[in-house]
Amino acid sequence: MKDIYRGTLVRLGSESPEVMAKAFAKWDRDTEQHRLADSDPAQLWSEKKIKEELEKRAEDNSKSFQFSVRTLEDDKLIGGVGLWISSWTHSDAWLGISIGERDYWGKGYGTDAMRLIVQYGFLELNLRRITLGLHAYNERALKSYQKVGFQLEGRTRGEGLRDGVRFDGLYMGILREEWLEKNS
Ligand SMILES: CC(C)(COP(=O)(O)OP(=O)(O)OC[C@H]1O[C@@H](n2cnc3c(N)ncnc32)[C@H](O)[C@@H]1OP(=O)(O)O)[C@@H](O)C(=O)NCCC(=O)NCCS
Repeated sequence: MKDIYRGTLVRLGSESPEVMAKAFAKWDRDTEQHRLADSDPAQLWSEKKIKEELEKRAEDNSKSFQFSVRTLEDDKLIGGVGLWISSWTHSDAWLGISIGERDYWGKGYGTDAMRLIVQYGFLELNLRRITLGLHAYNERALKSYQKVGFQLEGRTRGEGLRDGVRFDGLYMGILREEWLEKNS
């Protein structure tokens, strides 16, 4: 039986709220990382506040499946990835990922983590589809998601406004049967 937490470059892990809060506090200082991964205004939360937020979220984990991302070569914590069930009835979940350590962008670590979380969604959670959203200017994310098998399903024109420039939002999805066809 395959190890569903282990890819070719990374593994999915579990961290204490202290470890994750320290990492998020560091990654949030990277403005580009924030603007790639998030729509909310940038804010610098203390480690204490992030830890409290993580603990609050962990209280109801029936719909949330969150993992850290660690490299296989030296077990370095480089990011986080997760699925949020939008509906058990319809077997649909939203996916979110951010490789917070910028030295690991564009080297396949995020795409490897994507492959693992999608596999987890279809093999462990028996999902019917997985959905995600991204900013249209995030070309690397778009290419990464297409490599994993996501298809572009929608574009919301002028969804966001940053530095006085409006930008579009993109929505992508992958269906269980498409993934099975590619991966069995
Ligand atoms: C988005 C992310 C998950 C992608 O994972 P990754 O492992 O870095 O992606 P890859 O290295 O597989 O690169 C994907 C593709 O983008 C291309 N690419 C790399 N850097 C790029 C750049 N700056 N601009 C455009 N394309 C780029 C690569 O060439 C690759 O295509 P190829 O395999 O055909 O050559 C990861 O970079 C990340 O988390 N970034 C920071 C936060 C973020 O963007 N989160 C996503 C929010 S929706």
